[in-house]
Amino acid sequence: MPELKILVSREQIAQRVAEMGAQISKDFAGEPVILVGVLKGATIFLSDLARHIDLDCTFDFIGVSSYGARPTPDQELLGGWDSTGDVRVTKDVDSSLAGKNVILVEDILDTGLTLTRLRQILLGHKPKTFRIASLLDKPSRRKMPITGDYVGFAIPDEFVVGYGLDHAERYRNLPDVCTLVP
Ligand code: IMP
Ligand code: MG
Repeated sequence: MPELKILVSREQIAQRVAEMGAQISKDFAGEPVILVGVLKGATIFLSDLARHIDLDCTFDFIGVSSYGARPTPDQELLGGWDSTGDVRVTKDVDSSLAGKNVILVEDILDTGLTLTRLRQILLGHKPKTFRIASLLDKPSRRKMPITGDYVGFAIPDEFVVGYGLDHAERYRNLPDVCTLVP
């Protein structure tokens, strides 16, 4: 059985997500925002973040998967696989984002390939403003020059699960962010 160790506790997450929501409320004071969550990893983060945003706020979701070979669960865990950035949209947003304040909500910024492609897709809608909120960031893994505007925690290059993040679809329901050691 793989071993789970808490890396970011539920208390740390709760405090930081509240701060991020307050910052967004301040930055967009008086304006509506639309949160666009990336399925499925961002759903738990989005639902907590949204409750700390004191603005006219709506949600949308986008689903993506990478073309080509998916990593096996073992490859993914051992860090031997990078996404290709060749992203296929499996579920498009439901509403037009033209002229809106769009905040793309993601679970983790890793190589940056997925978010670089998503940014390109969403900027094609001609939003009024575009920001990225990511709960986690692994800066040491970055291959593309992209940064989050709102980042919860920078973490080392370790495979993590919980609070929405999965390994082969499991562990998304853990309340803490944990490292998964094979
Ligand atoms: P990127 O294109 O390499 O930035 O890939 C980002 C995506 O890879 C995230 O949305 C996650 O779905 C997944 N990912 C990257 N690192 C981890 C991790 O440590 N645990 C679980 N999923 C991860
Ligand atoms: Mg995943």
